[in-house]
Amino acid sequence: MKLKKCIFLVVVVLFVTAFFTYSGEDDYPTIDNTVFDNPQRPAAIFDHDDHNEKAELEDDCAICHHVYEANKLVEDESSEDSPCSECHSLKKAEDNSVPLKTAFHQRCKECHFDSKKGPVLCGECHIKE
Ligand code: HEC
Ligand code: HEC
Ligand code: HEC
Ligand code: HEC
Repeated sequence: MKLKKCIFLVVVVLFVTAFFTYSGEDDYPTIDNTVFDNPQRPAAIFDHDDHNEKAELEDDCAICHHVYEANKLVEDESSEDSPCSECHSLKKAEDNSVPLKTAFHQRCKECHFDSKKGPVLCGECHIKE
């Protein structure tokens, strides 16, 4: 019994420490927004691996890193070595009707809305430093 209590206390202390270390962190990992000529907002927070682990997307890279050929989505292929901006330009293009900002917003917000998890308000993603 004593040993169990002791382990319990150690675990509690670890959790509390982790919590405060985490909430004391004001340096969020963000998506590189330098591709936008003159960013209007602070770069959106997105801790890639941590996000995908929590959202259980680790086995489905292509949900975000998709591949298109002749305007058709290619199933089971992913493009994780290409930034979104490689195919999505700032303005609507002939070969791609989805501009970069729309591509990000649609991909990120749709799933948050649908799953009722994750941020949907401007200031929840574009956090001022
Ligand atoms: C789910 C997260 C999310 C939400 C909610 C969101 N955005 Fe974004 N937004 C992004 C991402 C990701 C990018 C592309 C990378 C970046 O700019 O940080 C982006 C890019 C932008 C850009 C182009 C880059 C720039 O700074 O000029 C603007 C403008 C923008 N968002 C405004 C908004 C506004 C206004 C709202 C609320 C109506 C909003 N966003 C809500 C994630 C989000
Ligand atoms: C929820 C959406 C999402 C999922 C799921 C996802 N990624 Fe990403 N990933 C992104 C975004 C957004 C970027 C930044 C793209 C940009 O800057 O244009 C990125 C960037 C990357 C990069 C480039 C990193 C760099 O900066 O050089 C790699 C590599 C990568 N992802 C691999 C993966 C792999 C492997 C998986 C699956 C295990 C995966 N991603 C799943 C959204 C996602
Ligand atoms: C290899 C090229 C390529 C890359 C890389 C790419 N896309 Fe796309 N994406 C396309 C094409 C082509 C379309 C279809 C455009 C059209 O219908 O005119 C598209 C469509 C979309 C759409 C609208 C359809 C849908 O799937 O909901 C979204 C949102 C989108 N892309 C987001 C992203 C994001 C976010 C990234 C980076 C994580 C990304 N794309 C990376 C080529 C690409
Ligand atoms: C396919 C679904 C899906 C997509 C696509 C997606 N998210 Fe999420 N996101 C989630 C879920 C689910 C959560 C809640 C995770 C949890 O349980 O904490 C979440 C949580 C978040 C959070 C809260 C902090 C965290 O990391 O848990 C941020 C910030 C976020 N998402 C940003 C983004 C951005 C930016 C994009 C686009 C590049 C994006 N998400 C794309 C499903 C998604």
